Amino acid sequence: MSLRPIIAPSLLAADFARLGEEVRAVQAAGADWLHIDVMDGHFVPNITLGPDIVRALKPHATVPMDVHLMIAPVDPYLEAFVEAGADIVSVHPESGPHLNRTLKRIRQLGARAGVVFNPSTSPSVIEWMMDEVDLILVMSINPGFGGQTFMHSQLAKIEALRRMIDASGRDIVLEVDGGVTAETARLCVDAGATALVAGTAVFRGGPDAYASNIAALRG
Ligand code: DX5
Ligand code: ZN
Repeated sequence: MSLRPIIAPSLLAADFARLGEEVRAVQAAGADWLHIDVMDGHFVPNITLGPDIVRALKPHATVPMDVHLMIAPVDPYLEAFVEAGADIVSVHPESGPHLNRTLKRIRQLGARAGVVFNPSTSPSVIEWMMDEVDLILVMSINPGFGGQTFMHSQLAKIEALRRMIDASGRDIVLEVDGGVTAETARLCVDAGATALVAGTAVFRGGPDAYASNIAALRG
C-alpha cells in the first residue's frame, strides 16, 4: 500500500485548557480527522471527556470527528455522541453484549460505525459483520493512556484485517492507534493501514511543530 494515509491527531495529547485553539491549529497543520478519546475510568483506567466537549468543539471542526469510545456500557451513550457531532463512532466489542446491534444503531443515528480491536482481540470478532462496519481500528497499545510504546505484535493483525477487508470488497477504513511515530507509521501503512491516529507524535513541540509532525507521519 502506498496511499496517503488519513492522519487523525488524538486530542488526548492536546492542551486541554485550550482545546478549541488546538483543534484549529492541527487542522491548519493538515489534520484529516480529529480523534477524540472518550474514557470512563471503568472500561479503561483513565477518565477523559464526554459528549458536552464534543459538542463544544464541533463548531471549530472543519474535518470529521472520529470518536473512540472506551466506555461500558456503551449503548446508552451512542445517541448523545452522535447528536453532539461525532461523524465516526468506534466501539470495543467488549463494551456491550451485542456488537451487531450496536453497529447498526450507530449507522441508524447517522454516523459511520467503527470496531476497535484491543491487542488481545481476535480479527474473527468482525468476520460476520463486514457489512455493518465502516472502520476498523487496531490498537497497538492497551487503551487508556497516550505516550505508550507501539506493540509490533499488532502488525500481523493489521495485515490479517487488510486481507479480510480486501476479500469483502468493501470500502472500510483500517486505522491504527497507539504509539504511532514517523517510524511505526511506515510499518502500519506497509501492513495495510489507511488511517493513523497519533497523539504524542503530533502535539510534541507545540503548535509551531504540528505541520512538520503531521508531514513526518505521512512519510
Ligand atoms: C489511548 C488512545 C489513543 C492515544 C494515542 O487509549 O486511544 O488515541 O491518545 O496516543 P499516542 O499517539 O501518544 O500513543
Ligand atoms: Zn484512540
